[in-house]
Amino acid sequence: SSSKILIKGGTVVNAHQQEIADVYIEDGIIVAVKPSIKVSDDVTVLDATGKFVMPGGIDPHTHLGMEFMGTQSVDDFFSGQAAALAGGTTMHIDFVIPVNGSLSAGLEAYKDKAKKSCMDYGFHMAITKWDEIVSREMEIMVKEQGINSFKFFMAYKGALMINDELLLEGLKKCKSLGALAMVHAENGDAVFEGQKKMIELGITGPEGHALSRPPVLEGEATARAIRLAGFVNTPLYVVHVMSTDAMEEIARARKSGQRVIGEPVVSGLVLDDSGIWDPDFTTAAKYVMSPPIRASGHDKALQAALSTGILQLVGTDHCVFNSTQKAFGIDDFRKIPNGVNGIEERMHLVWDTMVESGQISVTDYVRLTSTECARIFNIYPRKGAILAGSDADIIIFNPSSSFEITTRSHHSRSDTNVFEGKRGKGKVEVTIAGGRVLWNNGELNVVPGSGKFIKMPPYSYLFGGIDKADAKYLSSLQAPVKRSKAAT
Ligand code: URP
Ligand code: ZN
Ligand code: ZN
Ligand code: ZN
Repeated sequence: SSSKILIKGGTVVNAHQQEIADVYIEDGIIVAVKPSIKVSDDVTVLDATGKFVMPGGIDPHTHLGMEFMGTQSVDDFFSGQAAALAGGTTMHIDFVIPVNGSLSAGLEAYKDKAKKSCMDYGFHMAITKWDEIVSREMEIMVKEQGINSFKFFMAYKGALMINDELLLEGLKKCKSLGALAMVHAENGDAVFEGQKKMIELGITGPEGHALSRPPVLEGEATARAIRLAGFVNTPLYVVHVMSTDAMEEIARARKSGQRVIGEPVVSGLVLDDSGIWDPDFTTAAKYVMSPPIRASGHDKALQAALSTGILQLVGTDHCVFNSTQKAFGIDDFRKIPNGVNGIEERMHLVWDTMVESGQISVTDYVRLTSTECARIFNIYPRKGAILAGSDADIIIFNPSSSFEITTRSHHSRSDTNVFEGKRGKGKVEVTIAGGRVLWNNGELNVVPGSGKFIKMPPYSYLFGGIDKADAKYLSSLQAPVKRSKAAT
């Protein structure tokens, strides 16, 4: 039966160590991790000799079935998760978008979207306006709904964008709730100007997208968000770090002791901007995302930052649109829906780019693709580890095999793939999620409705010491300088 599984003879890799051991699973939970486990005949045995047995990937950044730019991303909670499982990812965290500013209405809509889930998922929530109701709803989300992170969009003027006043209110509220503030860091007002300028110059094609929002605008917003979070004294998570400019702001803040987390995404790590200059509109438009995929050099710098601990984990920002949807912007790049692939490709591309190239170890790989995400969002070691008691979300990875990415063979509903033709070493041969074998050597066996919502509690390790730091800061403010009365 599928409820009892033994994975035999593999190299079990956790973020803290690797060892040759067997892994025994019962009813969705890892029961034992040790050498030479003996089992009865009713147990499914998978031979992992010569292979790595690793925690399933956790993608901290996806947009499945997202209503955005007048349309909806084509991978929903079923097709996007099926693609994820085929690529070795067993959990993702998606962004709830409020409905007319209402968090609870947004949550209801996303609970509905997620009913067809075939793997576990969690939610972040976007904050798009500010008033007493939003403030109260944030508290309900954290205390009752299992959401411990809120995203603030500093870009998308006239749509999702918030101003500094709202960002400050949000940062203070996050801090008081033990929730993590996340930012999409681009200067939306300047982007708006840049877009107008491009259109005035007659640059209406996809390259106008990249030209209108250069790295300096990402660096500025990243620096601003970091400084405001420092002023409030609360941790900050910068999503989709795409440029050296933004990365260097994070490096500086971390060096000074500030709790800032930086998340690069696969497209930013392995691609450069050459695609967006393609003379074919459909080809160029598939690369349109925000912040844009940067000129060659930024990719290598982000890889180096990841390998040296300046950046902590890898997401995808998976948010795919078909060519017909991208064609909304055939005469005006501002109407091309923003978003690219990644949920199925992340595990393979990070392995090939980072491990196979010698930049990181196998244990680092587990940390960057799974464990660190579980720690940051406070669900470790239920997720992100192969330990007795952890959820049985596991991949068997063959480092001697190879992968190739093509639209023909991918499991996403998207009719294009920004990683088209990429190939490399390593292959996810088996994906076990919730204790069931859902991907086995090219065969996908997923059931809608089998995925669970994972509640994420507040106050992760990032919040340690905040009260003490605050007390020190406040006492310095509250001790008025003693001055003698001026002589009369
Ligand atoms: O282009 C992107 N990134 N689309 C998804 C929305 C967002 O900003 O994350
Ligand atoms: Zn974003
Ligand atoms: Zn995103
Ligand atoms: Zn595939």
